[in-house]
Amino acid sequence: MLLVEQALASDHEHMFRIEQDPHGILITNPRGYSAFTNVFFGGRRRRHAAALAAASGVRPAGRALDIASGPGTLVFALADRVGAGGEVVGVDAAREMVDYATARAGGRANCRFDYGVAQSLELPDAAFDVVTCTFGMHHIPRRTAVAR
Ligand SMILES: C[S@@+](CC[C@H](N)C(=O)[O-])C[C@H]1O[C@@H](n2cnc3c(N)ncnc32)[C@H](O)[C@@H]1O
Repeated sequence: MLLVEQALASDHEHMFRIEQDPHGILITNPRGYSAFTNVFFGGRRRRHAAALAAASGVRPAGRALDIASGPGTLVFALADRVGAGGEVVGVDAAREMVDYATARAGGRANCRFDYGVAQSLELPDAAFDVVTCTFGMHHIPRRTAVAR
């Protein structure tokens, strides 16, 4: 949180761009953000995501939604768990993130990335077995309403 506050308070270019938007604090430089998280996690980002996906309880052939999915690392870990019969959707309010994650997916059939604002997702009730959000809630206004 301190990093975000510092980023918003300063006027120089950061490693990853942060945009103040009515929808939230968007990150529009996916490569910069990915480089940052790789360093932050000491190269264990994928292992961490795999552990989270396991902890989520999603099952083979299950359906999962990841909110504020960023570069998609958790979506890929969830997709590995649900397998070919499942479906994982990542949503992010930064179109740059959606495009970057879609390119990373490289045509995987069991996951996709959509533009989506957490506060106003138009998804039917009970469409997913599991909903995840990592390092995202502090970017979202009215986060209590989103959590409900
Ligand atoms: C710190 S990143 C976390 C990305 C990813 N979940 C991870 O764990 O690396 C926060 C993400 O939230 C997105 N975001 C910010 N406000 C949002 C909103 N209202 N709805 C959806 N995504 C949002 C940003 O664009 C950014 O990709």
